[in-house]
Amino acid sequence: DWTMAAFRQEMIEKIRAQVGTGKVICGLSGGVDSSVAAVLIHEAIGEQLTCVFVDTGLLRKNEGEQVVTLFRDHYNIPLIHVQAQDKFLGELKGLSDPEQKRKTIGRLFIEVFDEEAAKIDGAEFLAQGTLYPDVVESVSPHGGPSTVIKSHHNVGGLPDYMKLKLVEPLRELFKDEVRALGRELGLSEAFVGRHPFPGPGLAIRIPGEVTAEKVKTLQDADAIYLDEIRKAGLYNEIWQAFAVLLPVKTVGVMGDARTYEDVLALRAVTSSDGMTADFYEFPWPVLGRCATRIVNEIRGVNRVVYDVTSKPPGTIEWE
Ligand code: XMP
Repeated sequence: DWTMAAFRQEMIEKIRAQVGTGKVICGLSGGVDSSVAAVLIHEAIGEQLTCVFVDTGLLRKNEGEQVVTLFRDHYNIPLIHVQAQDKFLGELKGLSDPEQKRKTIGRLFIEVFDEEAAKIDGAEFLAQGTLYPDVVESVSPHGGPSTVIKSHHNVGGLPDYMKLKLVEPLRELFKDEVRALGRELGLSEAFVGRHPFPGPGLAIRIPGEVTAEKVKTLQDADAIYLDEIRKAGLYNEIWQAFAVLLPVKTVGVMGDARTYEDVLALRAVTSSDGMTADFYEFPWPVLGRCATRIVNEIRGVNRVVYDVTSKPPGTIEWE
């Protein structure tokens, strides 16, 4: 559309004017916002941009690899892929308080990112996919680290030791506009239409302590849930859909054996900006198929429940 085409051109000029011949580092989270920001900036300044993708191991199934493929192979954008899964899991060990988990992830992310950024000689700028709602919500007490360099709801929250100037081309945009810009830049519909994903990732969808085994279980179950939603043609009607692995065991029966395994909660909401949300009214058969597949295909889960709480009073995430 012409507005986005004009905006794209305008932003490219602005980025060039701000950055000059300087080097820019962009932290990729795996999400849509930071990806769109990176592609736009790359279009503006090419090889002056280096992306750093800190892989926390807490993304949805296969999304880490997808980011690497998209940037390195498809766009040919210089990308440093930091495999930090073990580090994150190691530091999350023993933590079960939601805010402590958020803070730990936020701190580690900055540490790891900073270590990589320091290796990029002469970098002057840090690019972020900050959106307008992030700017507005920066005074809200709720929330934690986002794409994570920015502390979610804490815009401009750069650690002092990172003396980088911010490049934030999406600051005036809402989510749907970022998606439109992504399309304008040639990103695929499947990528651009992805549901929002929180910076702390799956860690806040595993109430209690996070372990590698639980992350794997949740990734697999979540992938089945999203697969069924896509097959039913409902993905784009939903703002966010995800599974939560509960620290609760219940009794079930499989064949003629008693089981005693974990409960998985499914959540789906509609929303326009994430500030308020309604639980999504699934057709029952879709939920039924999800439950059947998850219990049959995922070891260690024998019960599936659906969350019918709207926001407020609930939040979208469980932590
Ligand atoms: P809540 O749970 O507060 O979520 O209703 C509102 C929106 O924000 C996302 N969310 C986060 N995003 N860091 C983020 O980057 C966080 O700590 C965080 N907590 C929640 C959530 O996925 C939803 O889109």
